[in-house]
Amino acid sequence: MNFVINGQSLSADVDVRTSLLDLLREHLGLTGSKKGCNQGACGACTVLVDGERINSCLALAVQYQGRAITTVEGLATGADLHALQRAFIEHDGFQCGYCTPGQLCSAVAMAAELRRGVPSHVTSNLANEAIALTSDELRERMSGNLCRCGAYNGIVAAISEVYA
Ligand code: FES
Ligand code: FES
Repeated sequence: MNFVINGQSLSADVDVRTSLLDLLREHLGLTGSKKGCNQGACGACTVLVDGERINSCLALAVQYQGRAITTVEGLATGADLHALQRAFIEHDGFQCGYCTPGQLCSAVAMAAELRRGVPSHVTSNLANEAIALTSDELRERMSGNLCRCGAYNGIVAAISEVYA
């Protein structure tokens, strides 16, 4: 199978039942994306596909050939961290760091959803073309990314600083 991951063309000879998460971690050595629950409940495995966030543990790799896949390894530009990565460091947005790659990818896509005016469960005015990142919107939209360390205050502060 042939993939485009973080702007690079990569190939792998894998069983068609391989999940996108296992492809990344076990076959391509991209271990930034984490396996928490392996059943779509924790968000640790979140990656971007054509700019939209998905749980890679629930995705079959074969379906994502030819799509632009971005993992946490692709957020930085060389040695320059993404603004959100810098904000997570500044605001102590992690403790063990296991959930952090998923939090970062999820927040990047969430900001794009807001810019496109994609409503959430707590959006009051569905007619708005762009939606402000209020505290309620942030918490609702990031609720699929769990943090067992409870670093939520730092995570919210970091995301707010970059995108509010
Ligand atoms: S490992 Fe994919 S959602 Fe938990
Ligand atoms: S920082 Fe440990 S799970 Fe979130």
